[in-house]
Amino acid sequence: MNLRQHLPLLRWSVLRTGIGIRNFNRTGQVGDGRETAAADYVEANARRGDIDSVLATIDEYAYAKSFLVNIGDEKGRLLDAAVRRADPRLALELGTYCGYGALRIARAAPSARVISVELSSANAEVARRIWAHAGVAERITCVVGTIGDGGRTLDLLRDEYDFASGTVDFLFIDHDKNAYLADLLSIIGRGWLRRGAVVVADNVGFPGSPKYRAYMREQQGKAWQTVEHRTHMEYQKLVPDLVVESQYLG
Ligand SMILES: C[S@@+](CC[C@H](N)C(=O)[O-])C[C@H]1O[C@@H](n2cnc3c(N)ncnc32)[C@H](O)[C@@H]1O
Repeated sequence: MNLRQHLPLLRWSVLRTGIGIRNFNRTGQVGDGRETAAADYVEANARRGDIDSVLATIDEYAYAKSFLVNIGDEKGRLLDAAVRRADPRLALELGTYCGYGALRIARAAPSARVISVELSSANAEVARRIWAHAGVAERITCVVGTIGDGGRTLDLLRDEYDFASGTVDFLFIDHDKNAYLADLLSIIGRGWLRRGAVVVADNVGFPGSPKYRAYMREQQGKAWQTVEHRTHMEYQKLVPDLVVESQYLG
């Protein structure tokens, strides 16, 4: 374990993330150009067409250059295992950021189509560059929008991307922590989750999504079977976090 992982608060790029949190909440970017710089770094340093190399290069950038709010390497391994359990043909992610989480899903499910919904068109651009470099642009699509826009994005997913009853095998929720539960319920309301589908939610411990956590606890053994994975916030070992993995019982 190296010093950087133990002393996250001493890293300027982490402090800068805290300072930029209002900007991040408004725009999806910290505000110092680090997301575009991450795509530049991947194009300059990762082997083209090699998903492992691209993911390792993003992790290296987040540890050594500038902190990124990806799910990261430690929590990413929990995501990988959940994806493998679900063995999805269609996976949906809420919150693309730089495309790291979607790339992990695509690697763990080599025959899946991955659709990721993101508010920020600038982030969508960064993610598309990274996916193109990894050679998976055909399999991962970023839809710019949000589930909470009164049905517009949901209708687009139905009309343009063939979302229909029981088609979604895997859902990764990693966007606005206050929207986790409402957006999950909207997706269930469309009937898109197949029985047995797996839903993974990041950051349920930190910054936290208490309504989502309470819902899953209340639904335990009814509509959902949930496991809470104790882990750490991305790219450090001091701040704890929870990744919540739930199987839809229907
Ligand atoms: C934590 S990052 C996602 C990280 C990504 N899942 C990964 O692991 O690489 C959160 C992202 O969600 C986006 N976002 C925030 N609120 C959103 C919303 N209501 N709908 C869609 N995207 C949203 C932000 O712009 C940001 O890019």
